[in-house]
Amino acid sequence: MSAKKIVFSGIQPTGNIHLGNYLGAVKNWVDMQDVYDNIFCVVNSHAITIKQDPEELIKKTIDLACILIACGIDPKKSHLFVQSEIDYHPALAWILDCNIFMGDMTRMTQFKDKSKKNPKNINVGLFNYPALMAADILLYQADLVPVGNDQKQHIELTRNVAMKFNRDFGECFKIPEPLIVEQGARVMGLDDPLTKMSKSATGKNHAIFLLDDPDIIVNKIKKATTDSNSDIVFDETRHGIYNLLCIYEALSGKDRISIENEFDGKGYGVFKNALADIIINYLKPIQEQYKQLKSDEKYIRDILQNGVDSVLPLARDTYNKAKKLVGLI
Ligand code: TYM
Repeated sequence: MSAKKIVFSGIQPTGNIHLGNYLGAVKNWVDMQDVYDNIFCVVNSHAITIKQDPEELIKKTIDLACILIACGIDPKKSHLFVQSEIDYHPALAWILDCNIFMGDMTRMTQFKDKSKKNPKNINVGLFNYPALMAADILLYQADLVPVGNDQKQHIELTRNVAMKFNRDFGECFKIPEPLIVEQGARVMGLDDPLTKMSKSATGKNHAIFLLDDPDIIVNKIKKATTDSNSDIVFDETRHGIYNLLCIYEALSGKDRISIENEFDGKGYGVFKNALADIIINYLKPIQEQYKQLKSDEKYIRDILQNGVDSVLPLARDTYNKAKKLVGLI
């Protein structure tokens, strides 16, 4: 590792990667690759907190790595690996578990949301999920964790357990900061702009997936919930159109005033067509790159193996330090 700040982030290989994941996280990972020392992880161990088909999970894990590379994660600039390949993650999570109070863990809102969605599978792993996430981050002495808004509380817990550990046992972990960009930090569902766009939502028109075909994108945007007004302005209280405008803003790189001027007096139909076009054109090179990479699984697996090899020493050092500090031999 160089003297640059260390960035760590992760994404679960569950469901299809969507525009929310892209704008809230992956786009920023790609944009900051030259500035930091980057470690990105496909967090498949987190994925099994929800029931998964084992064979499918393996496929989805490799596929997600392939999409990340197609999005622009450059293996020459960033370390990319799969979480389950490094056993120090669950090992450190256990040490952290023993230093997180039940009360703090019980406050995690994502556990409550996920429990509601999966009432028949409220398992201990789902409850403990934030400890494993804290281990992911702390093992690599990360300075910055670029995520969407929904992960803020987990990073706060990570900071708290790291500070408590350092205080109780001696200096071991860097205290990480969340990095949440303004644009795209919380992309909402197209069919319900009051809920976050999510991989697990079942609505047909809920999310734009990065691998959606152009005609599907056009259809989803046409059907996206708006309101009975017609003027196109960034008004947070008009949730549907506001969400669509934010997506337009993030993908076009234009500022809000020029977007409002562009669509002044034009109505939702014209705006929705322009939005669909911009999404289709933006995703085209990613989809083309994905198709090419997909045919060479060995190339993807080699990149992931290099990723493991390059980050393992740091994970080992941090784990061994923590282990020694708590008195484990
Ligand atoms: P996951 O797989 O749910 O999502 C991956 C990233 O996408 C962001 N995101 C969103 N951003 C904006 N709008 C949305 N609608 C939206 N939906 C998802 C998430 O905030 C995330 O940044 N717990 C994590 C994975 C994880 C992790 C880590 C992240 C495990 N260990 C260590 C950072 C560091 C998760 O479930 O992400």
